[in-house]
This record gives sequence, structure tokens and C-alpha cells, in this order.
Amino acid sequence: MAVTTTEQERELLYSLISRRRSVRQFTDTPVEEPALMRVLTCAQGVNSSDGKRGAPSAHALHPLGLTVVVRRVQGVEAGSYLFDPARKSLGRIASAPVSGSLLPVSLADDEWLETAPVVIVISADYDLALRHFADQQPDGLRGSRYVDVETGAVAQNLYLAALVEKLGGVLVMGVDDQALARQLTLPAEHKPVALFCLGQAQAS
Ligand SMILES: Cc1cc2nc3c(=O)[nH]c(=O)nc-3n(C[C@H](O)[C@H](O)[C@H](O)COP(=O)(O)O)c2cc1C
Repeated sequence: MAVTTTEQERELLYSLISRRRSVRQFTDTPVEEPALMRVLTCAQGVNSSDGKRGAPSAHALHPLGLTVVVRRVQGVEAGSYLFDPARKSLGRIASAPVSGSLLPVSLADDEWLETAPVVIVISADYDLALRHFADQQPDGLRGSRYVDVETGAVAQNLYLAALVEKLGGVLVMGVDDQALARQLTLPAEHKPVALFCLGQAQAS
């Protein structure tokens, strides 16, 4: 498929990539709902009739999911939500607490897990990926590598989309996975892979 880009698009992408940095200090300003939805859509929203998304996925299996802990988003009640990639909408999943549950699972006292207006949890159906790609590697673990690589692609989309929305964020993976899983209501068969703290960056 021929890809056409304008000079402006090229400059914008290179500029965004060169300015991408992790942000860990956030203001109290709520995130605007349309901005959050665009960020989530960049990460995992379906953008073509064959179900494909902005982040690549081996065999287009799409084993990832996004659970969104909303603390301060204009027009969205605080709570936990599941992002629907096809509808590009949020569905309330539980009356789980939005404060106090994430800092305890950090391996490094990452306080931004509590102070961020939004925390996006990237989760995956590892068993689905392991089964699907079992024959690609003698130990049958290829699917797990693919999940991790796909998570990286989603994370970069989150970083760049946050930047273009005048927001900032940081990928957090230094957590106790099992403790984190206990704090969340994830899609069936999913395990947490990574978190992305999102909000308006505090001026440094
Ligand atoms: C796989 C991975 C795991 C990370 N885990 C954490 C984390 O647990 N806590 C954190 O504050 N930052 C985490 N980060 C962010 C890195 O610390 C950050 O990318 C690095 O310091 C480089 O800074 P920059 O993102 O501003 O370029 C992680 C980044 C990656 C790629």
C-alpha cells in the first residue's frame, strides 16, 4: 500500500519523538474526556474494517486490553473502566477504589501511581498468545515475547498521543504483578503487563 505523507506530518512526527520524555509530576487539572479518548484510541482503538489498530499485533491476534483508572477526568465519574477498542468507548467495570490501591504494588514507591489523574493498565491474555504461537519456539514461549513487544508499541503510542494532547505520562512496570492483579478487575483471562500514568505535566 502506497503511503503518502506531507512535509508537515513528517516534521510533526520527528518533533514529537524528539520531545518524548517521561513525566511523573502532575497538576490537579483534570484530563479532558475527548483527549483521554483520543489517547486510548491511539493505543488500542480499531481503525480499519479488518479490525486492525494503531499498534501492531503478531498475526493480528490483539491479546492486549486497556483498563482505565479514572481519578480526575472532566465529565467522567471516578472509577475503573474497560476501553472498548471497536466502539472507542469506556464501560464501567467495577466500583473498585481509585486511590490507595496502586502505590502498595510498586517496587520503588512510584508515587505517580497515586497522583496521576488517570492510570491506564495494559493487560494481556498471555495464555491466548502462548497457545497461538506455541509452535514457533521449542519452549512454546514465543507468545509471551510478542505480548511484551506489543505492549512496548502501545506504550510509545501512549507517550506520543499524550504529548500531542499537551499531557504527559510515564510507563511503569516495576510492580508486583500478582499484587497488582488482585487490585484490579481485568478482562477474563487477562494479567497486567504495564501501567501508564497520564495527566497534565507540572512545570519543572
Ligand atoms: C520497560 C520499561 C519499564 C519502566 N518502568 C518504570 C517504572 O517502573 N517506574 C518509572 O517511574 N518509570 C519506568 N519507566 C520509564 C523509564 O524510567 C524512562 O523511560 C527512562 O528513565 C528514560 O526517560 P525518558 O522516558 O524520559 O526518556 C520504564 C520504562 C520502560 C521502557
